[in-house]
Amino acid sequence: MWQLQGFDSTEFVSQYWQKKPCVLRNIFDHFESPISAEELAGLACEDDVHSRLVIEKDGTQPWQVRHGPFDEQDFLNLPESHYSLLVSECEKWLPELTGLLDQFRFIPDWRIDDLMISYAPAQGSVGPHVDEYDVFLLQAQGQRRWLYNDSRIKNPKLIPDLELAILEQFDPDQDTVLNAGDMLYLPPDIAHHGIALQPGLTYSIGFRTPSAVTVLESFSMEIERIGFSSIKYEDPDLELERHHSEITATEIDKFSTLATEVLRQSSSLWQDAVGKMLSDSPVVRDESDHQPFYVSDLRACNWIRHPETRLLFHQNNDNISVYYNGRSHSLPNQPEILELIRNLCDKHEWSLDLINQCIAIEALEKLLLELACNDAIIPFEE
Ligand code: SIN
Ligand code: CO
Repeated sequence: MWQLQGFDSTEFVSQYWQKKPCVLRNIFDHFESPISAEELAGLACEDDVHSRLVIEKDGTQPWQVRHGPFDEQDFLNLPESHYSLLVSECEKWLPELTGLLDQFRFIPDWRIDDLMISYAPAQGSVGPHVDEYDVFLLQAQGQRRWLYNDSRIKNPKLIPDLELAILEQFDPDQDTVLNAGDMLYLPPDIAHHGIALQPGLTYSIGFRTPSAVTVLESFSMEIERIGFSSIKYEDPDLELERHHSEITATEIDKFSTLATEVLRQSSSLWQDAVGKMLSDSPVVRDESDHQPFYVSDLRACNWIRHPETRLLFHQNNDNISVYYNGRSHSLPNQPEILELIRNLCDKHEWSLDLINQCIAIEALEKLLLELACNDAIIPFEE
């Protein structure tokens, strides 16, 4: 079921990706959502799951937003129509959906943000709005009408005093109905409004575009880590004609030059700054559990990635750096090591056979032990 039909990724990227919306009809053949509306509601009742109810009318205010976890009574109290239930990061809770996300691997893994699933009864929507990210909106069940614009808008005006970012003005030039198995791609900054025509489920596969601020933050953490301190402020040309409390323009310029110089002199830190930033995730080792791992533990069962693990790699002439959950691990760049790392990155479930192939190479054995030790991979019991 998870196989994009008649999809040409080269054409899609050259014509639409980050450029303009695209309707992809019947992109999944005989599509059936592996999760029902009832199961989605069940998920929204769990602690740790990020869920929202958006109630257009008949709530305490127009476009009321309520945050989960919810209980049965919350669902019983809902109006008949004009609401939506949205559950974010569904890929963490429903491993059967990883096959769907894998279909989007023509885009790098690190660009994927999450898979949100929404349920809406007839007329349910989250209002006309703009998202800052690329999104594939897959109609998984029922029918939804999408009104949207073909071109991007910056800094749209929003209705004041609402919890939800709803556009004050929305003049769509596109109007299309999506059936189960159809998908709409929207680049960032496209005004859109999806209204359920029948009760149904919509999957939003959202992508992230880290900002310059995020990469600078990661870079300064790297600078701190290596204890970079050789560049300091100097003022042999101290200005005397100034008020003693004033910060002069020359001083500000000097600091900006100083920072630029640090970036230049420590350009070798970019790789780790980017790798750690892109692989960052909430997975942290449970510190109460300090048991060391041995090769015999690795051999004892199959392993899966922790559902929140981000696993990436970068190769240069000498090394392969594996980045996972904001950490790095370096290995020699040898063809057999590279092939196995690609294999590990391809798969979510690591068979004993794959584990044994890795253990046969000392550098990879160390990597696996470190991944297990940091909860990046976990034993898989069928
Ligand atoms: C939804 O699934 O209801 C909203 C998706 C979107 O408009 O981004
Ligand atoms: Co949207």
